[in-house]
Amino acid sequence: MKKSVGTIIALTAMLLATDSQKGIESLSKGTRTLLADEMRHIEKGMHSIFSNIVKGEYDQIAKTATDIQDSFIFAKSLTDAQRSELKANLPQGFIELDRSFHMTAGKLSEAAEFEDKKEVERNFAQMMGLCVQCHSTYATQRFNTFSE
Ligand code: HEC
Repeated sequence: MKKSVGTIIALTAMLLATDSQKGIESLSKGTRTLLADEMRHIEKGMHSIFSNIVKGEYDQIAKTATDIQDSFIFAKSLTDAQRSELKANLPQGFIELDRSFHMTAGKLSEAAEFEDKKEVERNFAQMMGLCVQCHSTYATQRFNTFSE
């Protein structure tokens, strides 16, 4: 009995470990390219939000944050086939992180509309934390320092 519990735990650990890797690598080349394009797009957005924060340009922050919230991989640019491919291949944890990321972008946009300095900074920092959290879990092939 004890032995089988141990085996189940070991199997679960193995499944969880492969779960974080398999998703991205099993995507087709086209979908993966689209994901990388979106990533570069949000990276640019984050750079400009940083500049807008330090200059107090709230209108621009709200615009860019809304753009990030609306974009990304479940965006209009996806074909139905690519959408199904993503849903079928990406681990649940990835989808949840993606969702939190977009929710935080929405909160950032709202805070900027109210010119709420503290909330703008807090949500920006939270978004950055989510970039790192997702990359260190699901993008260790692309960013291999996270795989150590
Ligand atoms: C929900 C997961 C997730 C979140 C959140 C996320 N990323 Fe990524 N990102 C990925 C994955 C997965 C890859 C690697 C894709 C691959 O290997 O093909 C990646 C790759 C990238 C790349 C490299 C693209 C290229 O040219 O190959 C950049 C730049 C990037 N992300 C920026 C960001 C920034 C900036 C944020 C936060 C503002 C962010 N990402 C948030 C999952 C995420």
